[in-house]
Amino acid sequence: MILLDGKTTSSDIKDEITLEVLQLKKEGKKTPHLAAVIVGNNGASRTYVGAKVKACNRVGFLSTLIELTDDTTEASLLSKIDELNNNIEIDGFIVQLPLPKHIDEQKVLMAVDPKKDVDGFHPTNVGKMALNLPTFISATPYGILELLERYKVETSGKHVVVIGRSHIVGSPMSILLSQKRTVGNATVTITHSRTRNLKEITLQADIVIAALGIPEFLTEDMVKANVTVIDVGITRVEDTTKKSGYRLLGDVAFDEVSKKAAYITPVPGGVGPMTIAMLLKNTLLASKNNN
Ligand code: GUN
Repeated sequence: MILLDGKTTSSDIKDEITLEVLQLKKEGKKTPHLAAVIVGNNGASRTYVGAKVKACNRVGFLSTLIELTDDTTEASLLSKIDELNNNIEIDGFIVQLPLPKHIDEQKVLMAVDPKKDVDGFHPTNVGKMALNLPTFISATPYGILELLERYKVETSGKHVVVIGRSHIVGSPMSILLSQKRTVGNATVTITHSRTRNLKEITLQADIVIAALGIPEFLTEDMVKANVTVIDVGITRVEDTTKKSGYRLLGDVAFDEVSKKAAYITPVPGGVGPMTIAMLLKNTLLASKNNN
């Protein structure tokens, strides 16, 4: 079994980006600048956004963190987005999801200028991605493509089973892997909560991408020998033996599935760090487009 190490790989990518930023600075070009907006007090979201800002510092980007309270109105969030769209100092920005229930997520994502949408969530960018045109590919599926590429996991002609149809992961992942691209050309089955006989389907998979958000859902009896398993899940479960009071579990029962797998991502340290590295890559691209 080979561990698809997202921590080391993302660190390599950050080193590559650092060199590019140094070069940009040497050429007198603008330093890439990412802004992140977070609304409310969701602990996991705050951790993720904190990690994104920290990663900006590591590669030499500028970063701006905008923290808004839980009771922020939709109108005032939209006005903040308008401000960021028009601020020439900011190359790209993200609005961390989920948003409080009183805010219409779709409306917010539609308000982001597609040229600054480094999350790749705006319909314009999702459309370009679906047509295999150059655009910002959202960070989690982009990170999975990169991880498969760097570990030379063959996807062409393989059967990929994606579990989960979210707009952030399952849906774009299934589109990208079926496309004619370096990591692609796969036969893709997308499955979800209404899928019947899921186990029959996952047992046929050369590659399983688990992105449904149920801890340890994928078990050893659901995969064939030498499968490649990508675990997108990251759920906090209470654990009183930990200082934090919780531990992180993926969607894959790692201990048993890893015995059968050829390649597998750990949680934490698999897909999560890759997502951050790819957000940086998208920000670098946004900045180059601006230069
Ligand atoms: N929430 C979970 N994943 C993401 C992501 O990739 N971007 C944003 N903005 N919010 C998220």
